[in-house]
Amino acid sequence: MVENGFFRGRRLRSSPALRSLVRESRLLPAQLVLPLFVDETTDRPRPVPSMPGVERLPVDALVERAGEARAAGLGGVILFGIPRDKDERGSGAWAEDGIVQEALRRVRGELPDLLLISDVCLCEYTSHGHCGVLEGGTVRNDETLELLARVAVSHARAGADVVAPSDMMDGRVRVIRRALDAEGHMDVPILSYAAKYASAFYGPFRDAADSAPLEGDRRGYQMDPANGDEALREVRADLAEGADFILVKPGVPALDIVHRVRSEFGVPVGAYQVSGEYASIAAAAREGWLDEGAAMTEALNAIRRAGADFIISYWALEFARRWRAEWVR
Ligand code: PBG
Repeated sequence: MVENGFFRGRRLRSSPALRSLVRESRLLPAQLVLPLFVDETTDRPRPVPSMPGVERLPVDALVERAGEARAAGLGGVILFGIPRDKDERGSGAWAEDGIVQEALRRVRGELPDLLLISDVCLCEYTSHGHCGVLEGGTVRNDETLELLARVAVSHARAGADVVAPSDMMDGRVRVIRRALDAEGHMDVPILSYAAKYASAFYGPFRDAADSAPLEGDRRGYQMDPANGDEALREVRADLAEGADFILVKPGVPALDIVHRVRSEFGVPVGAYQVSGEYASIAAAAREGWLDEGAAMTEALNAIRRAGADFIISYWALEFARRWRAEWVR
């Protein structure tokens, strides 16, 4: 390899064909999951200002968008709900006629083979915006578990293929697994957001889902971004409780964690390229400061290279469109 005193790495970069042949990681539409927001308060799609190109959808439009995801060959969709009414405990999250349950039933009926993941949390449904039961200014862990289990069971009953708890309460995976099994949903896997940081990059999502905490923040339950070993402890605990696979969140700001989790545990790992990662590239692109297609492709490839088996991304459909255009050429 080394000759004349130095290494000629450029040889393998000298043509598109060679670069393609030796490319180490590739990303397929089937490895991408599209987040969708279903909104009970509107009868037409409503743009999310901080996420250009992303909309909150009424059920009909959501079914249509899910159909596009299916046609593009995406790995699946993950659903988030915006309910008409919120209350202290977030009871809309497990309502049989709740907005996500309704959307799950409709998509399930019309697109039987599209993978449907549901986000299990309370923050979009509580009047205070926290991910659990709030008492005296703190989110009560153990009091929240039973409610999360109800949410998960209601999603499975409505047709979710996978439930993904994103609340960061301790012990929720065990309680959710028991509840699913007791209701006959032993085949529904749990995708645990095990390593979820208290990240500033969730800001635009909270606009989209109307789920920002009215008071305080989520640092009492989501992880400190300065910690890495802690993420591995979280993952170990969730796997022991019965999580089938793991989600790391955010994406690019947590690439080391994607890599460590993948190599340490050998279970499938997904990464969530979150709203702020999307918004910052999309906003810069709108100013003409970044090439959106190139920047999003680079970020997605970086997450894949770090070891993610799949990626949840607001660009999933756009990526699939570009991928197909290149493939055909
Ligand atoms: C619900 C949830 C959040 C996200 C996914 N599930 C918000 C939060 O934890 O505050 C963020 C996703 C994104 O920013 O794109 N708990």
